[in-house]
Amino acid sequence: RELRFAADAIRDAGTVVALTGAGVSTASGIPDFRSEGGIWDRYDPMDFHVSRFEADPEGFWTERVAMVEEVYGADVEPNPAHEALAGLERDGHLDALITQNVDGLHQRAGHEEVVEIHGNGDRVVCRDCRSRYDATPFYDTVRESGETPRCPECDGVLKPDVVLFGESLPEHAVFQSHSLAERADLFLVVGSSLTVEPAASLPRRAADTGATLAVVNLEDTGLTGRAAYDFRADVTDVLPRLHGRVVED
Ligand code: OAD
Ligand code: ZN
Repeated sequence: RELRFAADAIRDAGTVVALTGAGVSTASGIPDFRSEGGIWDRYDPMDFHVSRFEADPEGFWTERVAMVEEVYGADVEPNPAHEALAGLERDGHLDALITQNVDGLHQRAGHEEVVEIHGNGDRVVCRDCRSRYDATPFYDTVRESGETPRCPECDGVLKPDVVLFGESLPEHAVFQSHSLAERADLFLVVGSSLTVEPAASLPRRAADTGATLAVVNLEDTGLTGRAAYDFRADVTDVLPRLHGRVVED
């Protein structure tokens, strides 16, 4: 079956690179962006624009804290898809993972090599000196005082360390993801609609430079015809079975 062939391809490939999107975290209770009931059904993308942050950091922060509480809830945990990917890495069958997610769940599942092209909401970054800090105490500051959190080093304004609309992407992470796509012999897309650049063009770049493509996503990603393995299925179902097949015997 297709799963067995895909597992063989992963096992036989020299360099395996995965790209994940919001679909890998929906089973953890975090909605994705574009499905029904997703983030864009509940929030205005303009609230995620850097100009909104710059015009009113205090208002932005207050809304951010409320949004995180509503969307993430109290106890978000990695799910079997995160765990299967971390397992593939641990067992030597996944060389790197590029993620568009900012939820930090890959790392919490034990994943080591994670390239974050949209940042990570578990951190904050200083607008002035670019120092980065664990976000937790600063979320508490906003909750308690409603005030904009400030940098302990330079008193600059702190921003969640996630890429807002209108901001450029972290240069190093983007460079790394392009070079990983070019090096990949097998490129695995997991839970992304592939509608946002530069992530959207990474699989094509990989294929153009010789990689076999595999996709696990509930809906069409536009790679049909190019992907050798195309699982239109739930990531929490396919990935654990794929991991199991790759490591068996
Ligand atoms: P999308 O919401 O665009 O796509 C998520 C995809 O995952 C959809 O195609 C779903 O069908 C699929 N999906 C959801 N749950 C799944 C499951 N359990 N199993 C399999 N597939 C599932 O999210 P992204 O592609 O990640 O950027 O969106 C990319 C970027 O758009 C985000 O990083 C965000 C947004 O603008 C920023 O905020 C900078
Ligand atoms: Zn600072």
